[in-house]
Amino acid sequence: MEKVMRKFFLFLSDNKFFTKMARKYGLKFGAGRFVAGEEINDAKTTIQGLNEKGLSVTLDFLGEFVSESDEARSRADECVNAIQMIGENQLDSQLSLKLTSLGLDISEDLVLENMEKILEAGKKHDVFVTIDMEDYARLQKTLDIFEKLKQNYDGIGTVMQAYLYRVSDDVEKLDQYSPNLRLVKGAYKESSEVAFPEKKDTDENFKKIIAQHLQNGNYTAVATHDDAIIEFTKKFAEEHDIPRDKFEFQMLYGIRNERQDELSKEGYKMRVYVPYGNDWYGYFMRRLAERPANVGFVVKGIFK
Ligand code: FDA
Repeated sequence: MEKVMRKFFLFLSDNKFFTKMARKYGLKFGAGRFVAGEEINDAKTTIQGLNEKGLSVTLDFLGEFVSESDEARSRADECVNAIQMIGENQLDSQLSLKLTSLGLDISEDLVLENMEKILEAGKKHDVFVTIDMEDYARLQKTLDIFEKLKQNYDGIGTVMQAYLYRVSDDVEKLDQYSPNLRLVKGAYKESSEVAFPEKKDTDENFKKIIAQHLQNGNYTAVATHDDAIIEFTKKFAEEHDIPRDKFEFQMLYGIRNERQDELSKEGYKMRVYVPYGNDWYGYFMRRLAERPANVGFVVKGIFK
């Protein structure tokens, strides 16, 4: 049943009509549990609250699958605003973004132009930028753009998805840049031709790439809510004398808040991924797919 629900929510996640409606009618159906708000000021208040508790943040201006150049440019401007807000308020926050919100499906030149604008602002305000990884169809294009930008900018990282068969080769290929990478299980609907269909295989591959990237001596962000993976990382780091300033844990805003506090109190760097903006629909559907039990929040949200 859980597998069916997962497929159902992933199917809904890229529905263009619902995405449009969601933008128009604002945060609904309990999505506020996973999204800081629609405005940059909501994001600022949320980051301040998390920083006060000792948690670092990566801020995500929600947006994906943009098909108009003007919209992609205005989304890049909003990312620059977000970086300025972080810098001017001296917040402990990075920025995360999706290349399809900056024109990946329109043209490579447009994405590069937008990314350069954002990375210049990042350099000025000392804000690190992570390119989220989207579906498999965009993986190679995303990696090519990351490699191009990485030649000129230090403050940029990207994401590796453990459910992909090829991920370990990609981690090895990127090692030449000593990159700061976020490692995740993977959140999209992929075919068994490119991704492990069974969760247990993804989990094993996740451990493999965590060990690989740490042993390559690169900064590693382990982004998961899974205790088994967290414990594996702690133990691996201890056994291989990897200092705590070479890795961090990351979790999504609104998920396992107590565990976030615990890890931070244990002395690990803990970063919370905080999304804001009106393009919340696809993000919210992927969170429901990960844990269909969260549908309870949707039902409550409908009657609010
Ligand atoms: P798993 O799904 O096995 O969950 C382990 C446990 O965590 C569950 O049993 C449950 O208790 C809890 N949990 C997990 N998800 C929950 C939810 N939605 N609600 C409540 N509890 C939940 N993916 C991607 O493809 N590209 C990307 O760029 C990113 N970026 C990213 C950043 C950060 C900071 C995180 C934490 C995750 C991502 N992801 C991502 C998503 C990632 O690929 C994955 O889908 C989710 O993290 C869920 O997988 P877990 O590793 O948490 O394990």
